[in-house]
Amino acid sequence: MKVLVTGGLGFIGSHTVVQLIEDGMEIVIVDNLYNSKIDVLDRIESITKVRPTYYNADVTDKEEMEKIFAKENIDSIIHFAGYKAVGESCVKPLMYYRNNLDSTLTLLELMEEYHVNNMVFSSSATIYGLPDSVPLTESSPRKEATSPYGETKVMIERILEDVSKVHKEFNIAILRYFNPIGAHKSHLLGEDPNGLPNNLLPYINKVAVGLLPYVNVFGDDYDTPDGTGVRDYIHVVDLAKGHLLALRKLEKNCGLFVCNLGTGKGTSVLEIIHDFEVATGVKIPYKIGPRRLGDIATNYASTDLAKKELGFTCDFTVLDACKDGYDFQLAEEKRRSK
Ligand code: UFG
Repeated sequence: MKVLVTGGLGFIGSHTVVQLIEDGMEIVIVDNLYNSKIDVLDRIESITKVRPTYYNADVTDKEEMEKIFAKENIDSIIHFAGYKAVGESCVKPLMYYRNNLDSTLTLLELMEEYHVNNMVFSSSATIYGLPDSVPLTESSPRKEATSPYGETKVMIERILEDVSKVHKEFNIAILRYFNPIGAHKSHLLGEDPNGLPNNLLPYINKVAVGLLPYVNVFGDDYDTPDGTGVRDYIHVVDLAKGHLLALRKLEKNCGLFVCNLGTGKGTSVLEIIHDFEVATGVKIPYKIGPRRLGDIATNYASTDLAKKELGFTCDFTVLDACKDGYDFQLAEEKRRSK
């Protein structure tokens, strides 16, 4: 099977590409390096001993994408490419709507033209908005998102539903990710954002290696056991496996399929700081500060459907993910200092 992976050099994309190659699939990556580095291609090759076909192209550029569809005989698509910074999306909403919607529409039009029937789409637990109850099941209501970024995911889910109604031959898996963390065991792939990290684990990692002085904990007055926000942190290698399983399901002509990918377990900010310290032996200083705008108290996934329909279960714990993420960060700092 030949799989087009948009955003295949990014954090989740690169881990998924490795697993697909290890499963014997042929990979075509399209990535414009907006939020990724070309070195990742070499690293994928050094892990798998296979160099995937790579195009430096923008998925919103239909002319360029058409050339790729015409040349490559694509069977399935995994569409990771997209802008994903919640805060930035509030400041630059047009940029988010234009990019995230356009890229998906371009792919859907090319799927029609080139008779490519299978797509896995990266959605997010953000589409559940402020949840009425947890765990979140796939039938929990999709709410107004708390950011333009989240709203692009809500809109794209609707587009995919509408398209599926008329294209009965399309098989589309909408995967709703919870909070991916961790890194590949080789320490060659991981999450290494430029500048000040928005997300908790990249921030903790920078504190752990001494690049930042302490973690700002965004609020300790939530209605949770210790007052800090509770999330469902899933190891990125488990998340990547979910994509492989979703592709297998699409091959069985399942039509539209919507599924959470999480662990089913909630962990608070203070708990994960503690887990990180246990897993790595590094003390993490923190300061309690005010809440961050748009944050919710708690979300974690119901994993029943993923288990039943995909046979998906997690192989890694939060402690494993903390250790792998930290080891990647250390390795990255070492590579940088050379
Ligand atoms: N947090 C801190 N300090 C930080 C960063 C985060 O205390 O420096 C807290 C947050 O308040 C929250 C938790 O850590 O309680 C997790 O925050 P993240 O920013 O790591 O993740 P979010 O749950 O806010 O958002 C993530 C993705 C979104 C996605 C969402 C889906 O970043 O893209 O999960 O639920 F939409």
